[in-house]
Amino acid sequence: MTDLDFIFSRRSIRRFTDEKVSENHVKLLLEAAMAAPTAMNMRPWHFVVIDDPGKLADLHRILPFGKMQTPLAISVCGNLGSAKKLVTERFWVQDCSAATENLLLAANALGLGAVWCGVHPINRLESAISSSLNLPSHVIPLNVVFIGHPAEKKPPRTQYDPAKISHNLFEVRWESSVDQD
Ligand SMILES: Cc1cc2nc3c(=O)[nH]c(=O)nc-3n(C[C@H](O)[C@H](O)[C@H](O)COP(=O)(O)O)c2cc1C
Repeated sequence: MTDLDFIFSRRSIRRFTDEKVSENHVKLLLEAAMAAPTAMNMRPWHFVVIDDPGKLADLHRILPFGKMQTPLAISVCGNLGSAKKLVTERFWVQDCSAATENLLLAANALGLGAVWCGVHPINRLESAISSSLNLPSHVIPLNVVFIGHPAEKKPPRTQYDPAKISHNLFEVRWESSVDQD
């Protein structure tokens, strides 16, 4: 156990109970999402909270790998309508991805399960989701996160891989002298 277990125990959960997610938890998830770092503090995000069964069915129909049966989904979108378009156009994906990861970590910390289903940059998914959620053209769906109470357990893990780390120069491996458990 380490202080970072809230990170290692976050896993994509794809099986859920029927239990609803409380409004208090939805609010906390959105607060966590909006606590994310964001270029020039532009916060180019917009969140669509989806709990209408017809809309959830739309998501299942549209998303090829998003058939999770949950009482709730949140679509994290980029809002490119801001005055500082040059910044938001360049960085909205990073900003909204940071917000999404915060949301996923918060869901895990609250005992909920969640999974990120990709939308942007797949044009046909973007336009189908935009049309279902009635998004204006300057609001682009980055993803749909399905959220509920988990009906499966997955072990915590890191996918730590020393082959993915260099030391000062690309060709030099960074070696840890700390023993792994
Ligand atoms: C950009 C992105 C798109 C993803 N899209 C899907 C998806 O459409 N369906 C799905 O079940 N999981 C999706 N995932 C979740 C990944 O499959 C998952 O994060 C990965 O397998 C690692 O497993 P873990 O989240 O349990 O650590 C997506 C994750 C990311 C970051």
